[in-house]
Amino acid sequence: MRLLVSVGAGSLKKNFVRVHVRDHGDDVVVLDKLTYAGRRENLQDVEHEFVHGAIEDPRAVAEAIDGADAVVNFAAETHVDRSIAEPDAFVRTHAQGTYVLLETARARGVRYLQVSTDEVYGSIAEGSFTESSPLAPSSPYSATKAGADLLVSSYHHTFGLDTLICRGSNNYGPYQYPEKLIPLMVLNALHGDRLPVYGDGMNVRNWLFVEDFARGIGHVLEHGVPGEAYNVGGPDECPNIEVVRRVIELTGAGEGLIEYVTDRPGHDRRYSLGSEKVRALGWEAQVRFAEGVERTVAWYRDNAWWWEPIRSGEYRAYYERQYGRALS
Ligand code: TYD
Repeated sequence: MRLLVSVGAGSLKKNFVRVHVRDHGDDVVVLDKLTYAGRRENLQDVEHEFVHGAIEDPRAVAEAIDGADAVVNFAAETHVDRSIAEPDAFVRTHAQGTYVLLETARARGVRYLQVSTDEVYGSIAEGSFTESSPLAPSSPYSATKAGADLLVSSYHHTFGLDTLICRGSNNYGPYQYPEKLIPLMVLNALHGDRLPVYGDGMNVRNWLFVEDFARGIGHVLEHGVPGEAYNVGGPDECPNIEVVRRVIELTGAGEGLIEYVTDRPGHDRRYSLGSEKVRALGWEAQVRFAEGVERTVAWYRDNAWWWEPIRSGEYRAYYERQYGRALS
């Protein structure tokens, strides 16, 4: 099979591409405009073709889709805090970009999978969301992702396009840009920088190891029913402060580094996904949080070559804007 894989978080896309090239023998074309989180070196050890361009650019998409049997759209400006500071890129990538990819897939009649997020359902105090729960997004990030999901469904209903939607819970693992909770805390802990916990630290996330999500997306691509959405949730939920304490234990840092900071505006309290539907297709998460977080900390400790250029580059300015203090 030949797959077109479009822009997205470096760590998830890397895992997905690696699994498909290595285990399935697929040809993969990556379309990416290489913004800060989609770095070229993330894929240097995996054979693939590369087209430099944005998904909202119809010419770049037409070039990249040539000969493809399916499109997997990661369509992700990934970080909620950035969507609060600068929403415009989120509207462009998620709304316009998804539209251009859908149109191109429709013209060629190829299967289309949209990678989405549990955040489209909003926050849930108890229980878990199913695929029929209403969409109630609360940030510019999740609202534009929800809009993109609805557009995907409309292309199935209106034009009969073979579409799938895969909604993952919070991903973590190697190669994740350190704006997200776990890699940010790991690198700060390794450097003796403060660990900024939003609000009371009791917001709960449903953690999914990146390799499990990559396999889940591949599973849905292969076995999913056209027109359907599938939740792919992690096996464990955990309040943020416990995640931070676990990182402290694993890095040998001190609890004194924890600093409670001003909460994120509109901060969702809890995410939780029910994944029965994708389980019925035969997918199961394989990595529990205790193991995954240990592997993640070990990877960051051993791979300074990957994060050093990030920590000394644009990220420093981002960090200062976001947290009002400099990194060490
Ligand atoms: P994040 O990794 O940004 O993912 P998401 O917003 O998609 O859930 O954040 C995970 C949780 O960690 C979220 O409740 C916000 C919190 N958080 C902090 O407490 N401090 C931080 O510096 C960051 C980045 C996140």
